[in-house]
Amino acid sequence: MKKNDFNDELHTLTRSEDGSCTAYSKEYDEHYHSTKDGALSESLYKHVIPAFKHIQGKKSVTILDICYGLGFNTLATILYYQQHASDIKLRIYSPELDSVLVASLIHFEYPKEFEGLRVIIDTLSKKGVYEDDYLFIELFLGDAREYVGEFEDFFDVVYQDAFSPSANPVLWTQEYFADIKKAMKEDGILTTYSTALKTRLALHYNGFRIYLNKGESFRNATLASFKPIDGYEEIDMKHKITCNPNTQPFYDKDI
Ligand SMILES: C[S@@+](CC[C@H](N)C(=O)[O-])C[C@H]1O[C@@H](n2cnc3c(N)ncnc32)[C@H](O)[C@@H]1O
Repeated sequence: MKKNDFNDELHTLTRSEDGSCTAYSKEYDEHYHSTKDGALSESLYKHVIPAFKHIQGKKSVTILDICYGLGFNTLATILYYQQHASDIKLRIYSPELDSVLVASLIHFEYPKEFEGLRVIIDTLSKKGVYEDDYLFIELFLGDAREYVGEFEDFFDVVYQDAFSPSANPVLWTQEYFADIKKAMKEDGILTTYSTALKTRLALHYNGFRIYLNKGESFRNATLASFKPIDGYEEIDMKHKITCNPNTQPFYDKDI
């Protein structure tokens, strides 16, 4: 297989609006990223930039990337870290069910911004782990729910970037977010592209505060935390519940 030969029975390469390539999953009938926002832009604006704003001042940062997919969130994090925060110790943990996809990523057409990350991309694709003096990245080839359950009070940041709640509800239920809460530190932050009320309710009922992540170059997204976050509009969840009394989060029993 050569570069650009990434396509297989389950995935096709798609160019998104910012020029970076993403993929379409035939299994989930969804793209891996918003094709309108662009794969790289979505990673940066909805996940990486708000996360780094939140963790300012920390010397060591631990991130849970749900799920690795094409690796954009992990790779955009490393890029941002190299450019803006290279003195911290960074650890990224990322579960991914699709081991065939991970192995195929050495052939994926990544944006030119990732060119300097080639050794990391290839090492992760082949061995599932990368380590140097400041950086540790571990891919777990298996079920995210099983993986998340192993951690307690561990993560500063969670990138919640599973396929949509309707396509992959098992990674959006109230019980799932209870495990995420347990795995996160008290001062941690969760970032997600989802603005669905069901998602926000599942977080809210687990004690998260909910914030709107809004900007000119991307569609609205959500941030969630246990402590107040400066610079973002907090969503009035009591008001949302009053206006939408019949909306419920996803529960494990319904899936
Ligand atoms: C939207 S994609 C993730 C995109 C990724 N964050 C990126 O930047 O490229 C969702 C990924 O979740 C994976 N997945 C689905 N269910 C899973 C599960 N239960 N455990 C682990 N990975 C899962 C899929 O194989 C897919 O690669």
